[in-house]
Amino acid sequence: MKQVSQIIGDNLLIFEKKFTKNLNGNNKLLQQVLKFIIKRKGKQMRPMFVFLSAKIVGEINESTYRAASMIELLHTATLVHDDVVDDAMMRRNFFSINAIWKNKIAVLVGDYLLAKGLLISVENEDFELLRITSNAVKEMSEGELLQIEKARKLDITEEVYFEIIRSKTASLLASACSAGAFSTSNDKEVTERFRAFGEKIGIAFQIKDDLLDYGHENIGKPTGIDIKEKKMTLPLIYTLLKVSEIDKRKIIYIIKNQNTNKKKVDEVLKYVNQYGGLDYAKHVMEQYKNDALELLYQLPKNSARDAMEELVNFTIMRAH
Ligand code: IPE
Ligand code: IPE
Ligand code: MG
Ligand code: MG
Repeated sequence: MKQVSQIIGDNLLIFEKKFTKNLNGNNKLLQQVLKFIIKRKGKQMRPMFVFLSAKIVGEINESTYRAASMIELLHTATLVHDDVVDDAMMRRNFFSINAIWKNKIAVLVGDYLLAKGLLISVENEDFELLRITSNAVKEMSEGELLQIEKARKLDITEEVYFEIIRSKTASLLASACSAGAFSTSNDKEVTERFRAFGEKIGIAFQIKDDLLDYGHENIGKPTGIDIKEKKMTLPLIYTLLKVSEIDKRKIIYIIKNQNTNKKKVDEVLKYVNQYGGLDYAKHVMEQYKNDALELLYQLPKNSARDAMEELVNFTIMRAH
């Protein structure tokens, strides 16, 4: 992302130093896990959203850095917990925390990261930042719980799917954009516009993640895990609406009872392909991306906004 690194490359470097400084526990085991987390960093897209949002409407300052650190900490905490919830052994091209240290430690380290994140804003009395992010944390838990409920009943509709991804993923991206914008504008109306933009691109972000799960490329984490976890995402939800009643029952049976049988799961994947479930999801993702761009174009035109457009496109084009 050429423009993104041109505009905020230096900020991202400084951010990384600050972020690392936050992660120094005084317990040996904790230190070990934190060191591991720092080493296996992710794409850091949320800090990019924070910095670019901030820069579109003002000058990046210390409170912008705190917003970026806090949001990346919350994100990391939720991933550590998510891998426990999903029983996933791989993350960021390596073993997950639960794979190495087991669930007990992953749960506690996730809590630690969450608390560290919240403390950054409390210590600096960034109460608006605290409000914005606490809301996201609440919504993320609600989203993950709703997802589990639906995985048990296997009765998810498209409407509920959007509710799940809006809360579990888009809420944090919306927070990243609004927190960034608030840090430089101090203006609630401006902040709300960034929140709406972040929510749209956040939904597109999760549809992309769900599409990547249907692929066979190396994305740094397991693919095909969603059906195994009885997680029905947009491509499958659409397919179930299109197939005959008999095929529908067959697919549901496989997901319910044969979800760890690779051959059977492949049969489901064949249906999804055949009935255009993947194309449909791509189409919807594009729509959300376009909605996001439309909101972006209503914001001041400058080089930071152009870089944001690049980041928006990367969100749905990315290979991992
Ligand atoms: C993964 O997010 C979790 C989802 C919300 C789908 P990212 O793809 O941004 O994860 P990292 O931080 O780059 O590993
Ligand atoms: C996103 O859900 C995780 C959170 C928003 C907490 P997924 O379970 O689909 O994320 P990945 O695919 O494991 O990264
Ligand atoms: Mg997961
Ligand atoms: Mg996923």
